Amino acid sequence: MKLPFAESYKIKMVETIRKSSRAEREQWIKDAKYNLFNLKSDHVFIDLLTDSGTGAMSDKQWSAMMEGDESYAGARSYFNLKSSISDITGFDYFLPTHQGRAAENVLFSALVKEGDVLPGNSHFDTTKGHIEFRRAVALDCTIDDAKDTTKELPFKGNLDLNKLEDALKSYPKERIPCIIVTVTNNTAGGQPVSMENIKGVSALAKRYGIKVLFDSARFAENAYFIKTREEGYSHKSVVEICQEMFSYADFMTMSSKKDAIVNMGGFVAFRNKEDWNACQMYTIMYEGFITYGGMSGRDMNALAQGLREGTNFEYLETRIKQVEYLGAKLDEYGIPYQRPVGGHAIFVDAKRILTNVPKEEFVAQTLGIELYLEGGIRGVEIGALLADRDPQTRENRYPALELLRLAIPRRVYTNNHMDYIAAALKNVYDRRDTITRGYMIAKELPIMRHFTVELEPAK
Ligand code: F0G
Repeated sequence: MKLPFAESYKIKMVETIRKSSRAEREQWIKDAKYNLFNLKSDHVFIDLLTDSGTGAMSDKQWSAMMEGDESYAGARSYFNLKSSISDITGFDYFLPTHQGRAAENVLFSALVKEGDVLPGNSHFDTTKGHIEFRRAVALDCTIDDAKDTTKELPFKGNLDLNKLEDALKSYPKERIPCIIVTVTNNTAGGQPVSMENIKGVSALAKRYGIKVLFDSARFAENAYFIKTREEGYSHKSVVEICQEMFSYADFMTMSSKKDAIVNMGGFVAFRNKEDWNACQMYTIMYEGFITYGGMSGRDMNALAQGLREGTNFEYLETRIKQVEYLGAKLDEYGIPYQRPVGGHAIFVDAKRILTNVPKEEFVAQTLGIELYLEGGIRGVEIGALLADRDPQTRENRYPALELLRLAIPRRVYTNNHMDYIAAALKNVYDRRDTITRGYMIAKELPIMRHFTVELEPAK
């Protein structure tokens, strides 16, 4: 008999989670103004809000924390992290930050000015926020196929090189501080970018004299997909693939809370000393001295270890197979989602489920609330709430897709939890035709409103 797949770890410590009744959840979500971010975590049974900072650290990471060096300057933990980053990415210069958006803040403070244009593949919301806050433009050049959730493509996170070249032709070089390649492409469904596409971006960037930035939050999952899906890479190690990927970039921003499996942390890394020098001032102003920038020594040590574990093939296989397991269950029930399954999450296609809810009433958010009411599961809306208003016209932006993201924390839940999630979603799916109304905005902030928005049921 062929032996079945099994996890490449065992569990040493557990945390109790509590089920609740539907009546309790009805009250809690009302108190939370129908914003899933406002729920207390104790009121959530399975938390799929994000895979960011929610992973379970390993015994080796915890023991690395005990050896953290808390010196203000030149700590051993800094040099430990430096060598981990350099081994995996080939970047010799880096600045620690407290998380990914802080890395964006440091880099963009040096790089981006009013009127600039930054082409890329579905910029993440904080990335876009940092660009638009500086009155620059985040120009989306993702392939059109990414918008068709039914299409099975191995690298649905790719940039459309024609769109990219049009952008590079349309604006003077001085107004394009860099091209941003997000690996994996979170917003498009945790979809990977192929090495071929990365090479294409790099060739165009060189031709037009423009630098390339990798938003690297999930770079290791991207490398896993290259290894398992792209011709010519199956025999290479994940680290070798990472090294090749990063060889096409000039700098990277990293939210270490994802693929480096730590609860907090980030960094910017650079190929050139000049770029590193240009950013140091902003690290000191916003984050801390350049050898700790917002991180304690113990956290840098856990991160150094996490980067090594996060690029281990057996770990990545366990992780991504769990997401695929959930996807297979949804297939069994006929529930539509962005195909193929992403690296860190399943993006349920809310528009194709709640066909009676008008787009003005936030379709994916409505599905998210229904799933919470059904099973105490918390996902996150990737739809019109997240898309925010147009900075110029202040009109609501309605994206092509209304997705409910179910992000799977790393090494946290079992496949029994996946079965529970799929069953709860099936129950909502089975009564989809009875859901006809969504929610209206009662209160919102001018930028990144989805975190704090207050909603009320549409009447
Ligand atoms: N870039 C990408 C692709 C991300 O997914 C995130 C965060 C960031 C940058 C910002 O990093 O949170 O450490 O400041 N994504 C989380 C998510 C929040 O849920 O997808 P951060």
